[in-house]
Amino acid sequence: MIAACERGVEVVGVGSHVPERVMTNDEIATMVDTSDEWIAARTGIRQRRIAAAGESSAVLGAAAAERALESAGMAGSDLDLIVTATASPDFYFPATASLIGEQVGARGVPGYDLSAACTGFVYALAQAYGQLSAGLAERVLVVGTEVFSRLLDWGDRSTCVLFGDGAGAVVLARNGSTTGMLGFELGSDGSGGGLLEVAAAGHRTDPAADRFVHMDGAQVYKFATTVSVDSAMRALEAAGLTVADVDVFVPHQANRRIIDHAARRLGLAEDKVVTNVERFGNTSAASIPICLAEAYADGRIKAGDVVLMTGFGGGLSWGSCVMEWTLAQKETR
Ligand code: UT7
Repeated sequence: MIAACERGVEVVGVGSHVPERVMTNDEIATMVDTSDEWIAARTGIRQRRIAAAGESSAVLGAAAAERALESAGMAGSDLDLIVTATASPDFYFPATASLIGEQVGARGVPGYDLSAACTGFVYALAQAYGQLSAGLAERVLVVGTEVFSRLLDWGDRSTCVLFGDGAGAVVLARNGSTTGMLGFELGSDGSGGGLLEVAAAGHRTDPAADRFVHMDGAQVYKFATTVSVDSAMRALEAAGLTVADVDVFVPHQANRRIIDHAARRLGLAEDKVVTNVERFGNTSAASIPICLAEAYADGRIKAGDVVLMTGFGGGLSWGSCVMEWTLAQKETR
C-alpha cells in the first residue's frame, strides 16, 4: 500500500518510558556462550532494559502515554481512540490499549491492539491517520510497547542478545491544513512468516512449537537491508519528496549494521540518522517511538523537519511514514 496523505494530521505530543533495569552484554555472557565483542560488532548493541516483575507492556505503555499526553497538554479523557502496537501484550484480551486507557484516565475511550511485530508502530500511525482523516476521531493516542524479554529463550544466544523492553507513544490530532503526515508505504509477505515467529495459543498442533522467538537471522538480515531502503524510497515518492528533503531518519532499531547500510544506500549523512540500539537493543514496536521521543527531547527533531520512519520485521512486514514535524520544542522524554 502506497498512499499520499491529503488531510492534515500531526503529532501533538510524544513520550517514552523504559524499565530501570539495565542488562549489559557482559551479563548475558554469563548466561550463554557469547561476548560483548561479538554482540557489539554484529549488532551495535551494548545493553538493553529489562522489565521488572510487575512491569508489563500495559504498565510501560501507560507511562509512555502519560508523557505523550503531558507533552500534548492533554488529559486521557481528551482522547477519542487508543491504538497500541505490541507483539508482547499483557493478554490476548483485554487489549493492552484498554488497560493503558484505564491507567491514563481514558475510561470509555475505544482502544485496540495491532500486531505487526517490529513494524507495528508504523502500521498504527497509518491506522490512526485513517481514522482521523475519515473524521472518526479528533485525537488519537498511538503506543508502541513491548516486554520482549518474556518472549525470549534465555538459553538461545542467537536471539536473547538482540531484544529489550520499553515503550514510546505519540498523540496525533487533526489540523486545519495539510501539514503533518505526508505519505505511507506498508507491506507484508507471509511467505517469509517462518523466518521470524513466536507461536501463540491458536497455533496448529505442533509439539515443537513453543512460546519463544525463533529467527533465521541471516535471512531476516537480507530482507531488512533491502526492504528498509525500498520502503523508505516508496514512502518519499508517495509524499512527493526525495531523500534530499529528509532532515531526520528514524529507522527501526534492530541492528546498527542494518541502519548504517540503509543510511548509506539512501545517501543520508550520519547526523541525520537517529540510533539508540546500543542502549536499548531491539524493542520491536517500541523502537521508533522511543527514538522519536529522545530525538525530540534533545533537539535533533525540530518543528519544520521532514522525518522519515522505517520499520520492518515479523510477517514479514515493513512500513515507512514521512511526516513534517510540527511540534515545537519543550522539555519531554
Ligand atoms: O526486528 C526484527 C528484525 N530482526 C533483525 O533485523 C535481525 C536480523 N539479523 C541480524 O541482525 C543478524 O543476522 C544477527 C545479529 C542475528 C546475526 O549476525 P550474523 O552476522 O548474521 O551472524 P550469523 O547468524 O551468520 O552467525 C555467525 C556465527 C555462527 O557461528 P558459526 O556457525 O559461524 O560457527 C553463530 O552460531 O555466530 C554465531 N553466533 C554467536 N556467537 C556469539 C550466533 N549468535 C551468537 C552470539 N554470540 N550471540
